[in-house]
Amino acid sequence: MRGRKILLAAAACIALTGCQGRTGEEEKSSIRIGISLYRGDDTFINNIRWELEEKAKEYERRRGIKVTLDIQDAKGSQSTQNNQVERFVSLGCDVLCINPVDRMDASLIIDRAMTAGVPVVFFNRQPVEEDMNRWDRLYYIGVDARETAVLQGKIVVDLYQNRPEAVDLDGDGVVSYVLLEGESSHQDSLIRTEWSIQTLKDGGVPIEKITGGIANWERSQASALTEQWLSEYPDTIELVVSNNDDMALGAIDAMDRAGAEGINVVGIDGTIPGLEALENKKLLGTVSANKENYAGAMMELAAACALGEDLPAAYPLTDGTYYWVPQEILTLDQGESRDFKEN
Ligand code: BGC
Repeated sequence: MRGRKILLAAAACIALTGCQGRTGEEEKSSIRIGISLYRGDDTFINNIRWELEEKAKEYERRRGIKVTLDIQDAKGSQSTQNNQVERFVSLGCDVLCINPVDRMDASLIIDRAMTAGVPVVFFNRQPVEEDMNRWDRLYYIGVDARETAVLQGKIVVDLYQNRPEAVDLDGDGVVSYVLLEGESSHQDSLIRTEWSIQTLKDGGVPIEKITGGIANWERSQASALTEQWLSEYPDTIELVVSNNDDMALGAIDAMDRAGAEGINVVGIDGTIPGLEALENKKLLGTVSANKENYAGAMMELAAACALGEDLPAAYPLTDGTYYWVPQEILTLDQGESRDFKEN
């Protein structure tokens, strides 16, 4: 499939290292980027949005090119997002950055973009490969979900290896855990769940699952589930493995309400509220995607596409299509010397 894509690109006389804009255009002094967020109230997506706004200002200053970000909230509706894409195209956006509502259903967006000749940088919610292979001006920016999960598992494995009593709280040789999962259709939920647990097993942590549930990335849903579990399984839960920080915070909210202490909670994202919980010793650790790098890749790739310039060398693409954002473990020991808010 990839080969076919390269051939198509070559046949169209498009340089393989470049993201050619519409041909024959004068040198541009301004670019307009149409951005649609699957949900504007998602904490992680908001963190990326703030960074992107900063990167756009920095790009304007550095390059002397005016950057207009047209940011829209699809509010969880794919048809709203499709309409936003239609509007972006009619407004003459040079490139689109799309955080798809339904990652399995990006085909209408791709059809519209291809017809209009407007490149698309998808992010965070990965369209299926078949869709991504339809055109050589489709890109994806996100984190490698398996890497995230292995790093999350490592936080607990490291603690268990150094101080087993800090993880196996009742000392019965078994670590009883509950699992909070994100949306069932999101690539990150499925892969994170599988590989976090696998990493705990591989690392020799004697885990036993008490229960688990889908809280759709949301703090309030996770809080309700955890409240229920704490009353169903009193004094049993020793570890909460959460697919993201917001749900980890929901679990902590429920634990605070129930007066449950000592349970270890691990998250993913390194969001601002997540890092505050880390500082307050409520969260054992999290895995943080480098937000500056994430937004920098989006800005530079989108701008290169809009201007028809070579793709930015600082953000190398896998298979000419995917950029994987670097991630790191944050625990209190590593975190104490950091200024979290700048991450
Ligand atoms: C993040 C979640 C976020 C979701 C949105 C995931 O990668 O970890 O916090 O809610 O993306 O798509």
